Amino acid sequence: MSTRYSSDDSRMDRRRFAHLLALGGSTAFLPRAIADFPDVPDRPLPPTPDVPDEQYWTDVRDQFLVPRKLAPMNAANLCPSPRPVLQALYDNTRSIDEDPSPYNRRKMSQGKEDTRSVLADYLRVSPEEIVITRNTSEANNLVSSGLDLGEGDDVVIFADNHPSNNAAWTEKARRFGFQVRAVNPVSPHRGPEYYLSAFADHLSTRTRVLAFTHVTNSVGDLFPAKALCALARDRGVMTLIDGAQSFGVLDVDLSDIQPDFYTGSAHKWPCGPKEAGVLYISRNVHSRIAPSVISLYRGSTGISRRMEGMGQRDNPAIMAFGEALQFQMNVGMRTIETRTRELTQALIEGLEAIDGVTLWTHPHPERSASVVTFEAGSLDPARLAETLYTNDGIIAASRSGADRPGIRLSPHFYNLSEEIDRTVATIGRYMRSGLR
Ligand SMILES: Cc1ncc(COP(=O)(O)O)c(C=O)c1O
Repeated sequence: MSTRYSSDDSRMDRRRFAHLLALGGSTAFLPRAIADFPDVPDRPLPPTPDVPDEQYWTDVRDQFLVPRKLAPMNAANLCPSPRPVLQALYDNTRSIDEDPSPYNRRKMSQGKEDTRSVLADYLRVSPEEIVITRNTSEANNLVSSGLDLGEGDDVVIFADNHPSNNAAWTEKARRFGFQVRAVNPVSPHRGPEYYLSAFADHLSTRTRVLAFTHVTNSVGDLFPAKALCALARDRGVMTLIDGAQSFGVLDVDLSDIQPDFYTGSAHKWPCGPKEAGVLYISRNVHSRIAPSVISLYRGSTGISRRMEGMGQRDNPAIMAFGEALQFQMNVGMRTIETRTRELTQALIEGLEAIDGVTLWTHPHPERSASVVTFEAGSLDPARLAETLYTNDGIIAASRSGADRPGIRLSPHFYNLSEEIDRTVATIGRYMRSGLR
């Protein structure tokens, strides 16, 4: 997909624009980062080889602006966007600012519908089941606010869902009168069978919703999503999968997993723009959910007609979201999942070999995928993460507190093997020398 609307030759425009900026002309008020944005490289990403080698992954890496001296290992939090996504965002933002007419805005609405179609292809569902949200938080909240739940109803959650997800369920339980029951995590992950039986034990005739996370943000526990959805369906229970840590990195096929709801954000693993996200609503439950925001600019098909009227939106960002998904589909979602899992396995093996490191993430591919959390002996997590960034250019997240504290690393398909090796070697060095 490459839906860009611009009245002139945009490359020409950018040069003229950069020139004006250099002269301090009328465009100087625009942020330098956008005005200076480099052209799409002359060498576009080559087709994915049958067996992608490190040269191919270097070509992928070159599509991102992050300089080589930085190793971005924090995809679970925020991913950079590749150049075609930035270009689409720039071109379409520019177009609407050059021509804010209803006519041009109508073309942008079509761009939003194009993104819906790409989302549907990407998740292997139909456009009638897609709502474009601002992020996972909003999508999760549209579910917890939009279902008719009250006295006598239960919602079963996983205690280690993202805190924002569980806080929303708890707050709405207080307002609407339903009960929340939580399944506790066991670390390291004890396997899919363990959690299937733990969730089964919590479901009762009062349970209306099972809300779990596909891959947890804390330690990267992977859940048997398809089996959990089947279990819930057999008991007449709706399922909400928080996909913030699987959307854009695992080859997610919702036609196979069959949840009722699935949510995700563009700015994480899909490497899309900020403030765009998805809420998948299976057609089986369209009649059970009501909108919590009612305004203009609804979608033009299926459930988006009722659930997406959220007022004026950033359509250029939504269009760039479609571009990001298309970029990943060009690489191939299976290829991305395989590559990311390989990098993660190499990282886990490297960390396991360092004396004093405790892994909170289980290495088995059925129990984890792309997020690795570990405790680095007695090194303070916040100080270690800051040192990694400041001294070594490694972007990591820290996890403080008593519950599985440490460092979280989340590599993605844009990382090179060299960055994994560098990260392992650097952590090994600090484990031996301490932080000064
Ligand atoms: C599992 C999970 N759910 C929800 C969220 C919230 O995401 P967002 O801020 O994009 O709404 C996050 C953020 O890290 C997350 O990891």
